[in-house]
Amino acid sequence: MARNCDRSMTLERTLPRESYFSPEIFRREQERIFWHEWFCAAREEEVPATGDFLQLDIAGQSVLVVRTKDGSLAAHFNVCRHRGSRLVLDERTKLDGDMNCAPSGNFGNAIRCPYHSWTYELDGRLRTAPYIAETDGVRKEDFPLYPVGVETWGGFIFVNLMPQRAAAEGRTLAEQLDALPARLARYPLAGLRTARRIVYDVAANWKVILENYNECYHCAGVHPELCAVVPAFKQAGGGQLDWDRGIPHRDGAFTFTRSGTTTRAPFPGLDDDERVRHKGELIYPNFLLSLAADHVAAFTVWPRDAQRSSVICDFLFHPSEMEKPGFDPSDAVEFWDLVNRQDWTICAGVQRGMQALVFEHGYYAPMESASLDIRRYVRDRLG
Ligand SMILES: [Fe+2]
Repeated sequence: MARNCDRSMTLERTLPRESYFSPEIFRREQERIFWHEWFCAAREEEVPATGDFLQLDIAGQSVLVVRTKDGSLAAHFNVCRHRGSRLVLDERTKLDGDMNCAPSGNFGNAIRCPYHSWTYELDGRLRTAPYIAETDGVRKEDFPLYPVGVETWGGFIFVNLMPQRAAAEGRTLAEQLDALPARLARYPLAGLRTARRIVYDVAANWKVILENYNECYHCAGVHPELCAVVPAFKQAGGGQLDWDRGIPHRDGAFTFTRSGTTTRAPFPGLDDDERVRHKGELIYPNFLLSLAADHVAAFTVWPRDAQRSSVICDFLFHPSEMEKPGFDPSDAVEFWDLVNRQDWTICAGVQRGMQALVFEHGYYAPMESASLDIRRYVRDRLG
């Protein structure tokens, strides 16, 4: 997804091989990237009702996102202030794949620890601790759940595991998203609904997946069906793509399906280009958006360990189309699934190939220049 491709550069070195499979480097990435930055974790529609919650695994940390009584969202570490028990014991999270767009559960009107029944309001305030009275010198306000930062944009929920630090450093979600909301202002993202979700288990480091998303040099060889619909992806190694305006399809095509067409109407409010062109966005560290006129494929990358990631792919459509009798998203979903599996197969091949004892680092070709940003992004944070 090379936004600004500098054709004058030659080959640039990638990060060194250890960066892609060292457990020690992954541990530093957890702390300095995934727990430190805003992490795209869910859609608001996944927790529609008061008490609905999601249990999320954010790079090894268990987090609860909860719909509170006033309709806002709260997020807490999944740990009781008393003895450190998990508040939700179940290890199952949305990454397990069988929780198709549904909440993990509903707390009712309070969160009760299963160990000694310390009970918290949905917003995290301690409500009761059995047989402990304020006269014992215990002040309830001193024992709220440990907070996780939570903000939303476009119907997406982002969490930040170090909210005090983010606030102190002025690192808001708006700052992290930068010009993205302005670029996508005409897409009705907050009002879209998830018709299908596919969870992929990818045997690759998270950076391999992002670097692959960042370029279309591989498209001609890896994605023949996609290039038949979007011939621009195979021209000049994908190095001259105008992502700001959007990528044109072949004549007569206007969306990511095998035929390049669909019976679904374009989203209301798009401009003439957006009705026929494709847009793509990548917000570090884990949020990837691909936008057609009639649907959006939203990818979140969930690092599991140095050599394994989960990718959740949500397919978003306009509710007015989903309400129509006979609505069938499979033309888009099946095409994307084909393209996605091609990507994950090649990413896993990169992950295995880099373990060759002679491989010290790779190279970015000129048309992969967007990945220079991820090299800088990681180095800036890890030192
Ligand atoms: Fe690809």
